[in-house]
Amino acid sequence: MDLTVSVLLGTFILSVLALFVFIASMAKGLFGSGGAAAVQIFDRDEVGTVEDPAATKAQRGSLQQAMDPSHLDSQRNAFEVGARLRADQSSSLVVGVCLTIAVVWLVLASLAGLTASIKMHAPDWWVEHAWLTFGRIRPIHLNLVAYGWCSMAGIGVALWLIPRLLKTELVGAKYALLGGALWTVGVMAGTVAIALGYSDGLEWLEYPWTIDILMVIGGALVGFPMWLTLLRRKVAHLYVSVWYIAAGLLWFPVLFLIGNWPGLHFGVQQATMNWWYGHNVLGLWFTPLGLAAAYYFIPKVLGKPIYSYNLSLLGFWSLAFFYSQVGGHHLIGGPVPSWLITISIVQSMMMVVPVVAVAINQHFTVAGNFRALLYSPTLRFIVLGAMLYTAASVQGSLQALRSVNTVTHFTHYTVAHAHLGLYGFFTMVMFGSIYFIMPRVMKWEWPYPWMISAHFWLVLGGFAVYFIGLSFGGWYQGLAMLDKDIPFMDSVTLTIPYLQARSVGGALMTLGHLVFAAHFFMMGWKFGPRRLGAALLAAPDPVPAAARPLPSGNPESNPAGNPASNPATGVVA
Ligand code: HEM
Ligand code: HEM
Repeated sequence: MDLTVSVLLGTFILSVLALFVFIASMAKGLFGSGGAAAVQIFDRDEVGTVEDPAATKAQRGSLQQAMDPSHLDSQRNAFEVGARLRADQSSSLVVGVCLTIAVVWLVLASLAGLTASIKMHAPDWWVEHAWLTFGRIRPIHLNLVAYGWCSMAGIGVALWLIPRLLKTELVGAKYALLGGALWTVGVMAGTVAIALGYSDGLEWLEYPWTIDILMVIGGALVGFPMWLTLLRRKVAHLYVSVWYIAAGLLWFPVLFLIGNWPGLHFGVQQATMNWWYGHNVLGLWFTPLGLAAAYYFIPKVLGKPIYSYNLSLLGFWSLAFFYSQVGGHHLIGGPVPSWLITISIVQSMMMVVPVVAVAINQHFTVAGNFRALLYSPTLRFIVLGAMLYTAASVQGSLQALRSVNTVTHFTHYTVAHAHLGLYGFFTMVMFGSIYFIMPRVMKWEWPYPWMISAHFWLVLGGFAVYFIGLSFGGWYQGLAMLDKDIPFMDSVTLTIPYLQARSVGGALMTLGHLVFAAHFFMMGWKFGPRRLGAALLAAPDPVPAAARPLPSGNPESNPAGNPASNPATGVVA
């Protein structure tokens, strides 16, 4: 195990180094004092102003009423609004491209997942083509969701957040465009390779390593603009979302490179490395991107700083310290040294620290304002995602205990947890973020608000059926497998109704994704009426100044639905 132990030791040393970076950052004041750093995402006098470009004008009015009806934002500073406008415009092309590609992958990945699901209770269906067999369509699904949808959506959202958070135009967007193109070619080539039967044979690392080279270069190029922009930042403190994004963009290439390096590990070492990668890609790539988005959009939509900024930093650093060693919990009961498994279980339990920090912060920010969820489509998705993050993590910590894992390990229960994390948490947060971002990118509002509601209820209902069905089915399956008096085949057949339920739930989720994708492209083609709403950053203001309604969020006082705009510029942000 020499090499593996060295790598694990290396990650430990990295953690200690991170501690020094932490201390140095404190000394340089990059964190800022809690209050000052927490309001950094707002312009002067903006606290109290709600913002959700995905909401209709009536919803926006009600949202403002629910939060702070007395707030007038007429005194907002034209310079700051203009700076934000320029920051948004600097990233809009690359963000629009990344999110469009992500949505295409989402639809294809869902269709592959649904096909794999049906095959588990109807194994003779569609077997005449090799690429449609379970052994290929399942990894096609997994890799498309991981590297197609989730990574592309996460990168798009991160690239949009960076200029906003650093109050600086994005520097080097062309590198990210080139990187995104290479990454996409990699995902396409990887998918075709798996379909043709070429695979590296390790879960999460199936794409042949030759194709991974494209993705390594692409990934590095995508991260480059963030570092360039950081160097030119116009803010004194780095908001917590920047920490998460920067760390994720640093951690992921290291993981991806080590995980995919050919000929480095064999046998048990390889399995250990496989799951070191497998869980780190979740915890140190998707999780930071998802949390970064939630930490920005929840306070931004509500017009209210997060509950405790210092707690958010504790959450970030404890995630950095504890997550890198948890991968061993995928091998409980396997032929690996027990100390390695025990460390991973201890670290899995320690994950309670960052999870509780995030939970307190995000939920206490929303607490008392749950009515806002009725009016803000963005918030509805993101708050749901944040709640399911807590649920997935608490479930994960319990699942890592030997007593629980003995029942759940080889069962569908794990798959239910996997979807609670990557779908319930991450994908929901990405949906909400895209609803907020796209009107800014396209300078066009979502054409049909009912489609947002249809999307929400279809994916929520579908996911509930998927998760509940599979969790129960998986648990009963595990108990049956452990019972020496039950023949193995009985433990298989008892799962069939639950697997059928998963296909029903998955079909509803896929339908929801089709509605979302259709709406996304309708927006791209500028369907729907041209509305002057909060979505428009630099809308021409057709109402003469004297006749302009009061800049209050109250829909009664703003019957024309014009945005609460800056009288000096006619601009809203
Ligand atoms: C404290 C946090 C968490 C802990 C301790 C944890 C723990 C676990 C454990 C014990 C397993 C099952 C291993 C097995 O028996 O094979 C697992 C699987 C999984 N978890 Fe988590 N989890 C956590 C959070 C998350 C989050 C936030 C996500 C998504 C972003 C996630 C996604 C997954 C996935 C996708 C799998 C399945 C991997 C595979 O088999 O391919 N988990 N987790
Ligand atoms: C963005 C949406 C989705 C994400 C992020 C996602 C994520 C995942 C992940 C991480 C796994 C690996 C689980 C594990 O090994 O434990 C997986 C497997 C799977 N997913 Fe999805 N999924 C999504 C949508 C769907 C949909 C709509 C369906 C339709 C039913 C589906 C069906 C499946 C099936 C059948 C498997 C294989 C399970 C197995 O091997 O036992 N997924 N998915």
